[in-house]
Amino acid sequence: MTVHFIGAGPGAADLLTLRGRDLIAACPVCLYAGSLVPKAVLAHCPEGARIVNTAPMDLEAIIAEIAAAHERGQDVARLHSGDLSIWSAMGEQMRRLRALDIPVSVTPGVPAFAAAAAALGAELTLPGIAQSVVLTRTPGRASSMPPGETLTAFAATGATLAIHLSIGNLDRVVADLTPAYGLDCPVAVIWRASWPDQRIIRATLATIREKVDAGISRTALILVGPALGAEGFAESCLYSADYDRRYRPQSAESPWAGWSEGDD
Ligand SMILES: C[S@@+](CC[C@H](N)C(=O)[O-])C[C@H]1O[C@@H](n2cnc3c(N)ncnc32)[C@H](O)[C@@H]1O
Repeated sequence: MTVHFIGAGPGAADLLTLRGRDLIAACPVCLYAGSLVPKAVLAHCPEGARIVNTAPMDLEAIIAEIAAAHERGQDVARLHSGDLSIWSAMGEQMRRLRALDIPVSVTPGVPAFAAAAAALGAELTLPGIAQSVVLTRTPGRASSMPPGETLTAFAATGATLAIHLSIGNLDRVVADLTPAYGLDCPVAVIWRASWPDQRIIRATLATIREKVDAGISRTALILVGPALGAEGFAESCLYSADYDRRYRPQSAESPWAGWSEGDD
């Protein structure tokens, strides 16, 4: 018996990995985080599967549900939205399961920030503009932030920021980021990225508050940084015609001359 943690993706039912789909289809028990996991993903559950929405449950009840499946010898598909490596609460469940000697596996999913960037058609790391993406959030009712992880500290890096769980803190986001990024810094809010009703709001730090209406709540990602909408960036060396590299040696003297795939 194994508990398979599966990243269920950002919303669109077909943004699920093939491995995730096959595991869901093979598990007689499915626990899903109903606040965000798309219901269409549950269509992959086998007929007669026990399907439990964990949104109204506490950790004890979730672990008890899994332990009961363990006693019956039934595999469990445990679905969380997006990917499991960020804000999935997988860590605390895993710690309990390890203590109970219940085996686990992890199957990654498409994270919301990737779906949001795809919706914009944007690369978040542009040569010479931004080479880092910070996945972060602001404090919430249930979660404080470690002291060093402030928006102002991240803004000082100039990186592209993907700010989660924070649409309700938009005023604070704007106030914290404006000193470092400037009022004309591009911002995009992507609401329900990849869902059929997805909305995209493009603005600047100066204008984003007036453009975001009351309909944009909860499932929204705020992307901020000079890389959004930048046109004057350098091309990368990777595809530059005269860049000497393993796959495209430029001369007989190149350290890569004579190398072919499979050599290492
Ligand atoms: C609890 S976190 C889950 C993050 C998830 N594990 C991931 O990999 O993206 C929920 C937050 O992720 C963001 N989010 C999740 N799905 C989203 C979507 N489809 N569109 C925009 N933002 C989304 C929102 O900021 C939301 O408040």
